[in-house]
Amino acid sequence: MSQLLYVSSSLSGPGSKSGQIASEFIDAWRAGHPGTKLVARDLGASPVPHLTGERLGAVFTPREKRSAHQQATVAEIDALIEEVEAADTIVIAAPMYNFTISSTLKAWIDHITRAGRTFRYTADGPEGLLQNKRVFVVTGRGGVYTGDSPMKSYDFQEPYLRTILGFLGLDDVTFIHVEGQQISADAAAQGLSHARSTIAKHFAPAQAA
Ligand SMILES: Cc1cc2nc3c(=O)[nH]c(=O)nc-3n(C[C@H](O)[C@H](O)[C@H](O)COP(=O)(O)O)c2cc1C
Repeated sequence: MSQLLYVSSSLSGPGSKSGQIASEFIDAWRAGHPGTKLVARDLGASPVPHLTGERLGAVFTPREKRSAHQQATVAEIDALIEEVEAADTIVIAAPMYNFTISSTLKAWIDHITRAGRTFRYTADGPEGLLQNKRVFVVTGRGGVYTGDSPMKSYDFQEPYLRTILGFLGLDDVTFIHVEGQQISADAAAQGLSHARSTIAKHFAPAQAA
């Protein structure tokens, strides 16, 4: 069965614009791909902790030597990785905070990026081990960073996500930007409508297969 992993990461809960558009995208996707199982990981409501030395140490401790606490930690981290491995489609709702992703999304990335599991180093360089998956990233942004915007060089969100996702083998990544959310009511409405028309144009169920 096809599985869609939805990772949301806004601190704004139901008011999240990236979440709103990602939900609309997922509804359209599931209408075009009946039977798709949805798995939701809401990092805003239930943040993954920072990757501490203690947590990483639990992963590196040989299985038979792990304490009960370390076993629980590794099980928690493995569950995050298994969700990604099991999905053939991944939708990430990513608000822009301070020109990049949220710290909660970064903490999730820190946990799923594991040598020998989601990437490995080879004689020819690093190799991503997450393959044959489609990724859609819906960003939420107060300003505008696309097109001819003078703010373009401040965007450390899309370039970073493209780099780290590509490093993991996820190179089929489509961005849907919801921009202008803090400029004015008109700009915010325009940002939402632009994102919706992007979805309608390029990701209508019939064309998304
Ligand atoms: C802590 C914080 C930092 C932000 N930093 C930026 C920023 O650097 N650039 C920007 O365009 N908007 C910034 N914003 C505005 C958000 O990107 C905007 O509210 C967007 O809608 C967030 O996505 P969401 O609605 O899905 O949460 C920031 C908002 C917060 C709360």
